[in-house]
Parts: sequence; C-alpha cells; structure tokens
Amino acid sequence: EIGYKQQLYEANRLAARYFYYQLTQGQGKTALAYLENRKIGEEYRKKFGLGYANFYRDDLLQFMQSKGIPIQVLLDAGLAMEDKGKKGSHYDRFFNRLMFPILDVQNRIVGFGGRVLGDGGPKYLNSPETKIFDKSRNLYGMNLARTSRGGSILLVEGYLDVISLHQAGYGNAVASLGTALTKGQAALIKRYSDEVVIAYDTDEAGIQAALRAFPVLKEAGLSVRVATMEGAKDPDELIQARGPEAFGEVLGKALPGFMFEVRTMAARTDLEDPAYKTQFTREVARKILMMEDGHERDNYIAAVAKEYGIREHTLGSLVNELGNQGG
Ligand code: UTP
Ligand code: MN
Ligand code: MN
Ligand code: MN
Ligand code: MN
Repeated sequence: EIGYKQQLYEANRLAARYFYYQLTQGQGKTALAYLENRKIGEEYRKKFGLGYANFYRDDLLQFMQSKGIPIQVLLDAGLAMEDKGKKGSHYDRFFNRLMFPILDVQNRIVGFGGRVLGDGGPKYLNSPETKIFDKSRNLYGMNLARTSRGGSILLVEGYLDVISLHQAGYGNAVASLGTALTKGQAALIKRYSDEVVIAYDTDEAGIQAALRAFPVLKEAGLSVRVATMEGAKDPDELIQARGPEAFGEVLGKALPGFMFEVRTMAARTDLEDPAYKTQFTREVARKILMMEDGHERDNYIAAVAKEYGIREHTLGSLVNELGNQGG
C-alpha cells in the first residue's frame, strides 16, 4: 500500500516535469504568453512548477508508458482516463491547459489543477480524489506558506490568487481551491498559525464562502479576520490593478470575523427603517449571546453599538434579556 502510494507520487512527479518542459517548448507558446499576460514572472512560474499539458490527447500517456509507468498507475493517479466508448483505450485527463501542480506539506505532488487557455469549460479541471489526494486535507500553497514568517495565514480562493500574492511578497497565502473549507483544512492551518485572514473573491459566492468558513476556522481555535476589497473581484486582480501596497491596505482594514458577519447582515437590510433596525439589533444580540466568553461578548457589544449607532446599554440589556429567556 505504501509502496503503491509511492508509485503514484512518482507518476505525478514525472508528469509535472513533463508539463514543465512542455511549457517552454514550441507548443507551450500560448500558455507562456498567457502567463506573461497574467503578469506571472519566471521566478514564480518555476517556484510553483507551472506547466503545460499540450493538445494531443495521449502524449502524456505515451511518455509515461515509455518510462515504464503502468496504465493502472496513471488511472489511479488521475492522470489518464478510460475511453467510455472504447474499452481498453485510454487518454490524458488534461489537454491544452495551463497546469498547476498541487503539493502537500511534505512537498509531494498529490494532484493537479489545469486552467483552460481558450474558450470552453470548465475553467479549471482538477485531479479527482485519489489514494494520495484528499481534497479536504490539502491547501494549495501550504508547502510554501508554512515556512513564511508572516505569522498569519492568508486564505484565498484560487491558484492565481496564491501565486500573485506570493509574487507580491505575501508568501503566507494558501487557497482552498473553490471548495467549501473543511475541518481538515482548518486543522492544517492551525498546525502552522493561530491567525487566519480570509480574502475570498468579492462576489456573492465569495461572501457566502467566507461566512461559512468563519465558524469552521474559529472552531479549530483560529482567530479569524476577513479582508474586504473594493473595485476588484479577487486578490490577484487587486494586485495587478493597484499593486502590492493596495493589498496591504486591504489587510490593514480586515475585520474580525464577527464584524464581517454583522456587516453582511447590515448590508442586507435597511437600517434607516426602525422596524428593520430593531430586527437587525435582535439578530445581532442573539449572535453575541452565543459567544462563550463574557469578555468577548462585552467587546462586541461595544463595537457593534458604536459602528451601527445603537446605545451600548440597549444592546447589552437585549443580550441579557435574550439570555434570561434561554435564547
Ligand atoms: P475563480 O473562478 O475565482 O477563478 O475560481 P480564478 O482563480 O480567479 O481564476 P482566474 O483568475 O479567472 O483565472 C477560484 C478557484 O476555484 C476553483 C479553482 O481552484 C480556482 O482557482 N475552480 C474554479 C475550479 O476548481 N473549477 C472551476 O471551473 C472554477
Ligand atoms: Mn496532451
Ligand atoms: Mn471565485
Ligand atoms: Mn482571478
Ligand atoms: Mn477569482
């Protein structure tokens, strides 16, 4: 079993090397131009081991077989697939895509993400879960972020956000890769840091994902902040448009997780309307009541009251009242 996993790691390593060389060969030209367009320089392209899966449907397969890798290993590593229409016939999972190897914290390649270069979807095709790739226990970039001296971990959505951030000097960025953050991923962060700053995309999906990630991270014992960016849809876009310093400003203004939650609630109601504001205040009081630490409760009563023009005494009494009613 351990020996077989080793074979899968080695297959991925060899595939990554193949993709890496393809990128700088003639047929990788468009992929290389794409990276240039996205302002990813040579140093970071190499650091992240980016590559190119060209448009032939079985060249990786041929190459790997010529190196003596059995087809079953390629299937189990998620690199090859069986042709449904033609049993016993196989083809490459990835073709004509920019390739991002996914490394675990022991620097083993556990899978790949591949971005389309032209039209057609999906935008990203990822390796399936395999014997060596448990998506719920990996974070893209953690192999590098774990040794960064930032103190905190920066949690973003995508491959390109991570690479852009590292290139801009934020070597503590990792990505949850578009899936809902899991307990296993939160535990992985906690191994290396006590504080996490979420900088997900600014669209509705990103806001929802941040709201869902917050309790999972908190539960793992992490202190959580949420960065909010204006005028850019994700950290990569912000850095490309306004530079690394602009992202630094965003970080400086990151809100404690709870204040982000409250702000999201506020944005969804009309606080000029006394009925809605009363409803909002009760809702917030109910959430504050759920905090276990009395000191934390007091601090958030004060902070929310100040931010939303509620008398501190009023909010405090409301929390107590709800507490006496048993929630
Ligand atoms: P985004 O759609 O936000 O992409 O997905 P992105 O990273 O900003 O990519 P660019 O900048 O448009 O090129 C965020 C992440 O979600 C996962 C990928 O990990 C991606 O980086 N995702 C997205 C998928 O797995 N499949 C998809 O089809 C789309
Ligand atoms: Mn190919
Ligand atoms: Mn997104
Ligand atoms: Mn993007
Ligand atoms: Mn994005």
